[in-house]
Amino acid sequence: MQALILAGGKGTRLRPLTVYTPKPVVPICNRPFLLYQLDTLRRAGVTDITLSLSYQPEKIEQQLGDGSNFGVKLKYTVEPQPMGTAGAYKFAEELIREPTVVFNGDVLTDLDLKAMIRQHKERQATASIFLIPVEDASMYGVVETAEDGRVQRFVEKPKPGETNCRNINAGAYVLEPKVLDLIPKGENYSFEYGLFPNLLEKGEAFFAHVPPRTYWMDIGTPARYLQAHHDMLANRVTRFHLKDRRGDFDSATHSEIDDLSIVADDCTIKPGVEIINSVLGPGCYIEERARIENSVLWSHTRVGAAATVKDAIIGRGCHIGRSSLVGAGAVLGDKTSLTDYTKTCA
Ligand code: GDD
Ligand code: MG
Repeated sequence: MQALILAGGKGTRLRPLTVYTPKPVVPICNRPFLLYQLDTLRRAGVTDITLSLSYQPEKIEQQLGDGSNFGVKLKYTVEPQPMGTAGAYKFAEELIREPTVVFNGDVLTDLDLKAMIRQHKERQATASIFLIPVEDASMYGVVETAEDGRVQRFVEKPKPGETNCRNINAGAYVLEPKVLDLIPKGENYSFEYGLFPNLLEKGEAFFAHVPPRTYWMDIGTPARYLQAHHDMLANRVTRFHLKDRRGDFDSATHSEIDDLSIVADDCTIKPGVEIINSVLGPGCYIEERARIENSVLWSHTRVGAAATVKDAIIGRGCHIGRSSLVGAGAVLGDKTSLTDYTKTCA
């Protein structure tokens, strides 16, 4: 079994965070996102992994290298321009000889991949797709299935009234290499609108995998990116245990950091500071009486005295002036500087 991770999208919905950091390596609890997917693959015994890139590929290669630090073997393909999800798989064809696990490079999940691969083999499927139920399916691809688990219909980004089904494509597939013959070469082509409906028309064995009690989140918008952090901090994502929430940093005796929060190496926490349910990247500097709550701060950000940061995401190397209030929904790109007393909300 091999794997291909689709990591070539621009991450536009996650801007400004993705202006300097491609979505596949935005940090989740201070680790580049793709490392969680590499963990999932490695645990299922899949170590021959190709990353399909297009946007800022050098930044991804720089962080992950040949994969040896993470117990896997990484290869890269870089499309001259994005070829679509299935087009990207076709573009990597030379590297693919075996049945392949394909992941959308932006889903955080504690999927038991071994069980999914087992089911794929037992059913002698041509393709298997991981499904997850959600409340609002309008932003995803709905997948309707029969009683026996066979896939029957795809409705990508359904409009109101188009389907009542709430099971969506969770962005993980197991594909037999023969499906490559159904993807046109050198064209922009998608799994969701192209290959999958085509497999159904051809009557191929295409099965859904609907695992019990599985965490799933597409991290592709700021709200979901922040939610993924809260879920990680509350240990709702099983299989990824946060070993050490405290790095090596200086903190004043009269400051409070709750048990949920993660504070990385080389931070400075001054007296009277409160840090609640938040993640601080390396080298953050939090001045007297500042309060950080339900927020994510990337590395080397400075928060001035008596400032409050709540329900917000702050990029790398930002400066939040003293007594500022950065509130719900705020997303600051790298190197943002806020003047003292700034308010981003009432
Ligand atoms: N290499 C490459 N080339 N990767 C691509 C391309 C491309 O042209 N287009 C998208 N990707 C990657 C993105 O980087 C992302 O990791 C993944 O493919 C999915 O693309 P998104 O743009 O995030 O799609 P989506 O979230 O709107 O919808 C997809 O994911 C949903 C689940 O999160 C669809 O697969 C839906 O059916 C699904 O429900
Ligand atoms: Mg997505």
